[in-house]
Amino acid sequence: MTLAEAATEVAPVIETRELTRRYGRETVVDKLNLAIYPGEIFGFLGPNGAGKTTTLLMLLGLSVPSAGEARVLGVDPVQEPLKVKSQVGYLAENMGFYGDLTARENLSFVAELNKLPPGFARKVDEVLELVGLKAAADKPVGEFSRGMRQRLGLAEVLVKDPKVIFLDEPTLGLDPEGINTMLDLITRLPVERGLTVILSSHLLHLVARVATRVGILQKGVLLAQGSIKSLAEEAQVPEDLEAIYKHYFQGARIEEVSV
Ligand SMILES: Nc1ncnc2c1ncn2[C@@H]1O[C@H](COP(=O)(O)OP(=O)(O)OP(=O)(O)O)[C@@H](O)[C@H]1O
Ligand SMILES: [Mg+2]
Repeated sequence: MTLAEAATEVAPVIETRELTRRYGRETVVDKLNLAIYPGEIFGFLGPNGAGKTTTLLMLLGLSVPSAGEARVLGVDPVQEPLKVKSQVGYLAENMGFYGDLTARENLSFVAELNKLPPGFARKVDEVLELVGLKAAADKPVGEFSRGMRQRLGLAEVLVKDPKVIFLDEPTLGLDPEGINTMLDLITRLPVERGLTVILSSHLLHLVARVATRVGILQKGVLLAQGSIKSLAEEAQVPEDLEAIYKHYFQGARIEEVSV
């Protein structure tokens, strides 16, 4: 048995079948079939408006599919959105914090909202340390830099001990050092905390550094999914995400013209 065959014997953490979302007459997610396995860092790629965020919202039960279905940890987000939300962390494109509260207070607030058991103060300290904000724990978040806010966003996602996390453009607006820190943190999560990660981004070179597999979305259609190695072999291009991406997009354009 090959590794790929072995992997498919494990139940996926996330699975979608023909998942579709329409807004009016526009189909923004079109019959999406995704399978993401435990411990993966799945790079969800596609240009602006491809349907990445819409897909994540459907997986979270925050947006209802027009057709098809999804399972997250075996749970249907349409039927049991709270059950999904209790196990899934979501770092949104733009997250808000209470500027007057400190980092520790913001996290404690989230912990209380999520009804974490008593003793969550330790959990708050643990995640603050993990994201490198221990020294700034008692500083008002209104005084945080963009990179610090981004790290706090990740801490907020982790404080409720999720099994899966969705990170929507987590490196947006970060400087090169901030990007490195964020990517290092993301890489550690499956190993140290047993997490499965979906990383949505259009920054190919960043995704290529951390992703175990990628899915390429264009106008709601999944053009390809697989490891960079397997996609490169399939497309007969160098083992490089930029080359793979270009290959699939050219293919998509040719199809469009011939219709
Ligand atoms: N609430 C909404 N009502 C109508 N159209 C929407 C809504 N949300 C998203 N769309 C449309 O759906 C399409 C996909 O949007 P989505 O936000 O999922 O893209 P994305 O891949 O996350 O893009 P980006 O990289 O810019 O974040 C876009 O054409 C967008 O205009
Ligand atoms: Mg988006």
